[in-house]
Amino acid sequence: MSDQSDNPSLWGGRFTEATDSFVQRFTASVSFDQRMAEQDIRGSLAHARMLNDAGILSEEELKAIEDGLASVQNEINNGDFPWSIEREDVHMNIEARLTALIGEAGKKLHTGRSRNDQVATDIRLYLRDAIDAISQELTRLQKGLVGLAETHAATIMPGFTHLQGAQPVTFGHHMLAWNEMLERDYGRLVDCRTRLNQCPLGAAALAGTTFPINRAQTAAALGFDFPTRNSLDSVSDRDFAIEFTAAAALILTHLSRMSEELILWTSAQFQFVELPDRFCTGSSIMPQKKNPDVPELVRGKTGRVNGHLIALLTLMKGQPLAYNKDNQEDKEPLFDCVDTVLDCLRAFADMVPHVTPQKERLREAAKAGFATATDLADYLVGKGLAFRDAHEVVGKAVAEGVKQKLDLSDMPLATLQGFSPLIESDVFEVLTVEGSVASRDHLGGTAPAQVQLAANNAGKALEIR
Ligand code: ARG
Repeated sequence: MSDQSDNPSLWGGRFTEATDSFVQRFTASVSFDQRMAEQDIRGSLAHARMLNDAGILSEEELKAIEDGLASVQNEINNGDFPWSIEREDVHMNIEARLTALIGEAGKKLHTGRSRNDQVATDIRLYLRDAIDAISQELTRLQKGLVGLAETHAATIMPGFTHLQGAQPVTFGHHMLAWNEMLERDYGRLVDCRTRLNQCPLGAAALAGTTFPINRAQTAAALGFDFPTRNSLDSVSDRDFAIEFTAAAALILTHLSRMSEELILWTSAQFQFVELPDRFCTGSSIMPQKKNPDVPELVRGKTGRVNGHLIALLTLMKGQPLAYNKDNQEDKEPLFDCVDTVLDCLRAFADMVPHVTPQKERLREAAKAGFATATDLADYLVGKGLAFRDAHEVVGKAVAEGVKQKLDLSDMPLATLQGFSPLIESDVFEVLTVEGSVASRDHLGGTAPAQVQLAANNAGKALEIR
C-alpha cells in the first residue's frame, strides 16, 4: 500500500491497515495545534529557502513552495482551509495541502527535517509572539498604576499588617507596591523569552540530518538568537513552556492579590474605592448589589493557570530522551495560559485607570486603630527616650485612648503629658496621619514626596521599555 491515495496518512508506506478511527481521533492534535499554523508556515519558508541555498531545492521548487504556502495561509485566513484529522496535526495538514496545491515540490519540503524539530520550533515562535503581546498588556497595566500613583501620591489610606490597621500610608504608595510585583513579572517574561529564543530546526527527528543544512541561516531568518546546541535536547525538552507557565502563574498570583484587595475595598463595609459600573454586574435578586465581577473572575482564574503549571511539570518529569508523544499534551495548557493571562491583564489594564479612591473615607479609616502610635514612640525616642521605654509609654496612652474612645491626636496635650513629660505641643505634627506619612521620607518610604519621585522614575522606565 505504497500509494498515498490508498492510505491518506503520510506514513502509509510502512502500514498494512488504516489507523483505527478512534485512535485517529485520540492521537490527533489538529483541533488545537492549528493555532500555530502561521508559525508553522514561517518555519517552512525559512527551511525551504535554506534548502534552496544549500542546493537541495531548485529555484522553481522554492518558488512553487513559497507561492503554495502563501495560498495555504490565505485559505486559513479565509476559513476555507480543509483541516482534517486524517492528517493528525497542523504540520501534516499544511504539508499535505501544499502538495495537493503544487505537486512534486511539496513532497520535498520535509527534506532534512522532522515534525519533532518542526513542532519544537513552532511552539517557540508561538510563545515568543505571545510573550510580546503579554508584555505589552502588562506594560499598559503598569502605566495605569503609575498614573494612579502620581495622582494619589498624597492620598492617605490605612496600611495593614494581618489585615489590621497598622500605619497610615499613601494610596500612591500602595499602587507602586503593585507595580513592583508586575515589574518583576515583566523581568521573568524577558528572561523566559531570552532562554527560549534558540532555533531547534535541524535537530530533525532526534539525531540531526545527513543533508548539508545551514542551521545558522534558519535560526537568523526566524529571528532566533542561535541554533540550539544539542539535537536530542532540542526536540524533547519543554522547559521553556514550563518556565513561561510559572511566570504566568506568578502574574495571576499578583493579579489575584490585587483583586482580593479591590474586592474588599469596594464592599459597603470598606468603601475605600469605587469601580466604574461597566466593570461590575448586579444581582438578579438583590437590587442594591454592585458586584466586582472582574476582579473576582481574575482571582478565580488563577486556579486554572496554577493547574496548567502542574500539568506541564508532570507531563515532562518521566520522559526519557528524546521526543515522546506525551509532548503533544503541552499545547492545550500552554494555549489556555496565554489566553487567560492576556484576558486578565487586559481586564485590569482597562479597569485600573478608573479605580477611584474615596479620599474622605480612606483618611477616616487611616486614623482608626491608633495608626500613629509608632510615630509617637519615634517622637519620644527623638527626645532621648530608649525605644523600649517609649513603646511602653505609648502602650499606656493607647490603653487610655481605647477606654475613652479617643484617638491619640484628639487627646489634650495635658493628658498626653501625663504619660511622659517629654511630650510637647509639637507632638501633634506627628500624631496626624499627614504628619505620619510625610515623616517617612526616604527611598522606598510612603512620604508623598518620595511617592511622587518613585512614580516619576517608574513612569520614565516604562516609557523606554
Ligand atoms: N503533533 C505532534 C506534537 O504536538 C508533532 C510531533 C509528532 N512527532 C511524531 N513523531 N509523532 O508533538
